[in-house]
Amino acid sequence: MSMYPIILSQGKFTHKDSLTFPYEERGLHFGDGVYEVIRIYDGRLYLLDEHVDRLFRSLDAIRIELKHSKAEIINLLSELIARNNMNQDGLVYLQVSRGSAKRIHTFPENVEPNFYAYLENQPRNVEGIADGVGAITLPDERWQNCYIKSLNLLPNVLAKQTALEQGCYEAILHLDGRVTECGSSNVFLVKDGKIYTHPATHRILKGCVRIAVERFANDLNIPFIEEAFTLDDIHEADELFLTSSMSEVLPIVEVDQKKIADGKPGDISRKLQEAYEIDAQLKREKVK
Ligand SMILES: Cc1ncc(COP(=O)(O)O)c(C=O)c1O
Repeated sequence: MSMYPIILSQGKFTHKDSLTFPYEERGLHFGDGVYEVIRIYDGRLYLLDEHVDRLFRSLDAIRIELKHSKAEIINLLSELIARNNMNQDGLVYLQVSRGSAKRIHTFPENVEPNFYAYLENQPRNVEGIADGVGAITLPDERWQNCYIKSLNLLPNVLAKQTALEQGCYEAILHLDGRVTECGSSNVFLVKDGKIYTHPATHRILKGCVRIAVERFANDLNIPFIEEAFTLDDIHEADELFLTSSMSEVLPIVEVDQKKIADGKPGDISRKLQEAYEIDAQLKREKVK
């Protein structure tokens, strides 16, 4: 449970104990809503514009009209951090559903979206970042609009649980052998000095860290190629890594119990991790 007592609810700040959650709610009934998880370092929101842009893309895609503008959301989230005196590494979870209404599939009339956000502490995955993690491969059983950050996460939940039960951090998902992304992250393959990843079509969620990694790669003159790689390519790869707001740039050193290259994080993964730390202003604190 979050240790931060003040939450943002319908654009207002309130104590979490005073929140009354309706049971007739479209997020609960249908998963009829969208969400964002934004990284916080030392109380600072990282890649905030990218997340808020994606939130509005997701809302547009499922035709939910939020009465707040992007600028208002940014101000509200900053105020949420200030009101909680949050100065740790953590996250903000933000959710918008179509609203509270009797359970009928079609859109209810005259209903306001339900919108709330809360903070949580979340330390960096220092060990995984240093040593890398293992992954399994699974068929991608999701729907065809994965670019929407929808509340419907059952296939992702089941894939990640299977990975956990096999002692792994992530599940690499594929459609007929072509890798899309992971259960809750984007995935990248490095071969001959070039980075490959699935194009940002409707089949994947365009991660905010993926956007940042493309920027880092351009700055470092590393070719960033939006081309799906295959399950067969994985075991020929020089490096593999995943990205997400909680995982950062995380090397994958083993897939389906087989080592990737020498089983250690590779040079390009290390360069991108360094670029990430500089961009997120983490380097300075580490050195202290
Ligand atoms: C399916 C999926 N892909 C990719 C990502 C990475 O997105 P981001 O980098 O914005 O955290 C996530 C994050 O939760 C995700 O759930």
